[in-house]
Amino acid sequence: MSANEKPTIGVIGVGWVGLVTAGCFAELGHRVIAMDVNADKVEMLRGGGTLPIHEPGLPELVDRNSERLEFTTEMAHVLAHCRVLFCCVDTPPTYSGDADLSRVQAVVATLPDGGEHALVMKSTVPAGTGEAIRRSKPDLVYVSCPEFLKEGTAVADFMQPDRVVIGADAGSEWAAELIASAYEPLGGEIVHTDVASAEMIKLASNAFLATKISFINEIANVCEEVGADVTEVAAGMGLDERIGPKFLKAGIGWGGSCFGKDTIALKKLAGNTGYHFQLLSAVIDVNELQKRRVVGKLKERIGELAGRRIALLGLAFKPDTDDMRDASSLVLAARLRGEGAHVSAFDPVASDRARRLLPEIEICESAAAALEGADAAILVTEWPEFAELDWQELGGGMANPLIVDGRNFLDPAQLRAAGFTYEGIGRAPVGEPGRVA
Ligand code: UGA
Repeated sequence: MSANEKPTIGVIGVGWVGLVTAGCFAELGHRVIAMDVNADKVEMLRGGGTLPIHEPGLPELVDRNSERLEFTTEMAHVLAHCRVLFCCVDTPPTYSGDADLSRVQAVVATLPDGGEHALVMKSTVPAGTGEAIRRSKPDLVYVSCPEFLKEGTAVADFMQPDRVVIGADAGSEWAAELIASAYEPLGGEIVHTDVASAEMIKLASNAFLATKISFINEIANVCEEVGADVTEVAAGMGLDERIGPKFLKAGIGWGGSCFGKDTIALKKLAGNTGYHFQLLSAVIDVNELQKRRVVGKLKERIGELAGRRIALLGLAFKPDTDDMRDASSLVLAARLRGEGAHVSAFDPVASDRARRLLPEIEICESAAAALEGADAAILVTEWPEFAELDWQELGGGMANPLIVDGRNFLDPAQLRAAGFTYEGIGRAPVGEPGRVA
């Protein structure tokens, strides 16, 4: 490697985090060798075909940098060319709620002794994991570099980070410096800290964001009681710089693979040491109830749901992704089925995944088909295209033009003009006393 040449970076695990990390470092001019034990996935990526995940901008990025991006199943090949290995394998929750670290441990087991290589942990792991790994492999150079990417905007998040956290203990300084210089061109603040604190920054950040959402959801529920509009309340609160406007959108609860997993992992982590994290228990409970409240709203409007046809617009846990993990739609669909309703649904991207997870609901090819003959609709995911629909025409095809906007995404006045009864979350229904009438 010449003085100006950027170091080759190894990425272990080419799931969503690994693929974004590999693609973005290649974009920054690094040669990247990305390894996965799944030979089919590696073959697919080598072929330059469709990516296994839906992430805006990623296919173009991977394509553009294909000369610098290599995919392999051989760990020995990665070790031969890279000193720094970003560990991006998944850490799903176990039945006890603890993170399953078996894939991380499998990676650690393949690393040679001698301190030549550094393992950089991007996978979300409980605080204390770094220490435990180093106890099992004392000369391992270990750095915690948690990821803060959001699905749907991961490439932009990587390229314009608010901060990059690098947790390294004594003996790992060379790796921390190398990682810092790899991220430096992006301009985000680089936070140097110890391993345990870096691990906690990740868990605490996700838990705080989940808390913010559960908080605004409870405020929304109170707004409904007192005739206030949570979107105005959130806007007014968010102008206070100490609070900020982000993650104050009330709705039918947070989903996705991260908030649920990380809040439970942090709660368990505290519990395992004998500390009861009360606030977090409430944050999780509020979210579970929030997904179910919509069913109550429907019942108030149309009575018992047995035999009724209810349409779900959107199924993914948020727009711009096909990810269905922990999506609010899963609980909602199951609750509606539990009430005896017929459930039809449409999602622009997640339909295939949803079909496998929700075999008992009717997945339609368009919003119009899902809404045809429905007694009520629920907007579950705020896909931008839903704002562009011809609601007048769609309402005409429904048995009863009632919509519960689970993301406060649609324009209530427009829906009302189209003949709908509109109800959001934490705002007065249109046509009833309150400011949105
Ligand atoms: C989250 C974090 O935001 C990332 O920083 C983190 O890196 C990631 O988890 C992770 O640990 O991997 P993500 O789950 O992709 O990212 O999605 P978010 O944009 O955070 O949304 C999570 C859920 O919260 C979605 O269901 C979304 O609809 C909901 N949400 C978000 C709200 O209900 N209200 C809001 O105001 C914001």
